[in-house]
Amino acid sequence: MTVPLMRSPAKPGAPAPSADARRVSVALHDVSMHFGEKTVLKGVELEVVAGQFVALVGPSGAGKSTLLRLINGSHKPSSGSLAVLGVDPATCGRGALQRLRTRVGFVFQQFGLVGRLSAMENVLMGALGSLRLPRYGIASYPRELRERAVAHLERVGLLDQRYQRCDTLSGGQQQRVAIARTLMQEAELVLADEPVASLDPNASVSVLQTLKKLSAEDGFTVICSLHQVELAMAVSDRVVAVRDGSFVLDAPTADTAEAQIRAVYAQAEQD
Ligand SMILES: Nc1ncnc2c1ncn2[C@@H]1O[C@H](COP(=O)(O)OP(=O)(O)OP(=O)(O)O)[C@@H](O)[C@H]1O
Ligand SMILES: [Mg+2]
Repeated sequence: MTVPLMRSPAKPGAPAPSADARRVSVALHDVSMHFGEKTVLKGVELEVVAGQFVALVGPSGAGKSTLLRLINGSHKPSSGSLAVLGVDPATCGRGALQRLRTRVGFVFQQFGLVGRLSAMENVLMGALGSLRLPRYGIASYPRELRERAVAHLERVGLLDQRYQRCDTLSGGQQQRVAIARTLMQEAELVLADEPVASLDPNASVSVLQTLKKLSAEDGFTVICSLHQVELAMAVSDRVVAVRDGSFVLDAPTADTAEAQIRAVYAQAEQD
C-alpha cells in the first residue's frame, strides 16, 4: 500500500504555538487536586517535551488517572496552572477546549470503541473532529480519509481485519484500532490510561511496542499509565512514579532501575 502518511503541519483553528509551546506538550506547575476533603494531587510539577514517551506508574489510588483527566480537561485543578499543547484546558473557553481535544488522543483500558461498527469505521471516527457534519457508514467519508484510515490500520497490523466488527476482535486488536483512531485524528498528544490492563502479557508487549514505534515515527507525545513495571521500562523514555498524590520519582528510563519503581509499590503496601 502506498498511501502517503503525511501529518498536516497544523490543524485549522489550532492556536499558533510559541517556540516554547511547540517543544513542550504538557506543563504542570504546582498543580493540586482535591475532591472534597481528600487531596489527590499535591503540588505536582511536570514538563513533557514533544515526542517523549512517559510512563506513569504507581499504586492504585495514587492519582494517575486524575492527572490524565486534568490534562484532558475533564477535571479542573484546585490550584496551580497547566498548559497542554500551549492551551490551558482549565481556563480556555468551550470552543478552545473542543479544538484542543481534536489534538489529543485517548486510549483506555476498555478501548472506547463502538463494538457494532467495523474497525475501519471506528478509525474514521478519529477524523470527525475535523469534519463539519456527522457521517454514517464508511462510504459517507471522503475517499482521502478512507485511504488514510486503511493506511493507519495497516500500520497497526490490522489491514485484513478492517471490515470486521470491533466486538469480534481480540482485546489486543481492539486496542490497535483505538491507536489507529488516534493516528487518524493526527493527535499530537496521546493519553493512555492503563491501555494494556485487560490484555495478556504477549498482547500487552506488542500493543505498547506498536504505540512506541508510531510515536517515534510520527513524533507525537505519549503519557501512559501502567502497572507493569517491566513494560514501563521497555517502552518509555521517562518514568514518573506517583504515590499518594506526589511524584516520588521522575527520571529518564535509561537512568532508572526496575527496583526503584518496584520500591514505590512496596512502600505503598507498607503504608
Ligand atoms: N471524581 C472523584 N471524586 C472523588 N474522589 C475521586 C474522584 N476521582 C478520583 N478520586 C479519588 O482520587 C484518588 C486517586 O484516584 P485515581 O483514579 O487518580 O488513582 P489511580 O492512580 O489512577 O489508581 P489506579 O491505578 O487504581 O487506576 C482515589 O482515592 C480516588 O478514590
Ligand atoms: Mg487509574
